[in-house]
Amino acid sequence: MIILSIETSCDETSCALVKDGREVLSNVISSQAALFEKYGGVVPEIASRKHVEYIIPVIDEALKKAGITINDVDAVAVTKGPGLVGALLTGISAAKGIAASMDVPLIGVNHLEGHIASNYLEHSELEPPFICLLVSGGHTHILEVKDYTDICILGRTRDDAAGEAFDKIARAIGLGYPGGPKLDKAAAGGNPDAYELPVTRFRDNPYDFSFSGLKTAVLNIINNEKQKGNEINVPDISASFQATVAGTLVRNTMEAMEAEGFDSLAVAGGVAANSGLRHLLSKECKNRGYKLFFPPMILCTDNAAMIGAAAYYRYIQGEIDDYSLDANPSLRIGYPQKTVDNK
Ligand code: KG4
Ligand code: ZN
Repeated sequence: MIILSIETSCDETSCALVKDGREVLSNVISSQAALFEKYGGVVPEIASRKHVEYIIPVIDEALKKAGITINDVDAVAVTKGPGLVGALLTGISAAKGIAASMDVPLIGVNHLEGHIASNYLEHSELEPPFICLLVSGGHTHILEVKDYTDICILGRTRDDAAGEAFDKIARAIGLGYPGGPKLDKAAAGGNPDAYELPVTRFRDNPYDFSFSGLKTAVLNIINNEKQKGNEINVPDISASFQATVAGTLVRNTMEAMEAEGFDSLAVAGGVAANSGLRHLLSKECKNRGYKLFFPPMILCTDNAAMIGAAAYYRYIQGEIDDYSLDANPSLRIGYPQKTVDNK
């Protein structure tokens, strides 16, 4: 089954052709990141207009790269949320147009389920159940993936998402946008022990995260240095911040794996590209004999191939949408676990 999938939830216009939920025939991504550098972040109105401009050329290129025509497409999938409403609507409109004109099923996909599914494209052996650490610009979750479409939330951030924290700190130390990858690069030359930074834990759920205290602590250090007329040591502050975020993500995830009795971990979302997180997770999983799955770099950040993979598993459960499909900017993933042991 060949699914044509479309992703336009933020600032990447992307179209992919995916076979049977596991094989990428093509995955074209047109990123607007360079355009938004001068604004220091995504401007939703501009992003929507750029999606309108790029969507048809991106679809054409994806078909060309896959070596197929629109007549070979069995279904159309599209991100329905979460994301920027105007951006989502451009992708949804394009998907509806193709589905209606070709008379093929339309499948609306949760962007976060897509991030998890990016791992299926790279690791043919990966099947649920497993634990997923989902770390993106807007979400930070520890999930129990019970089945392809049955997902339970073990832990989540109570304030900032990990990617959001990376972006805010990067901006504060003058690294610009997109912050995560720039901070990752800056951290490479720094000392992760240069600053001792706070870590928040919750008694009522040991798997939950909070990054706002950490963010404030780093901002205070930057302000104090500025007031003293000192230069900020960008590599050191970047390395210390990155090590603290990675340490927190890994600690909670390892605790969840052990307590819930899992030995397979998949990582997903833009922050899965972070070198500090990848390094620490690899080390800790190796020590414990856990199997660790990362998507390749290109599938960590937003792309349509992951949407095609997630759509396949929705489709085989008989879940298709009609033409009333609408964007849901605050769509959530999973359902809460009823009880989490207090530690
Ligand atoms: O998954 P994604 O592409 O979009 C959302 O669904 O949010 O994630 C984007 C986030 C941004 O916050 C970006 O700064 C972060 O992922 N990110 C990184 C790295 N690459 C992307 N954060 C840390 N290190 C990276 N190498
Ligand atoms: Zn994303």
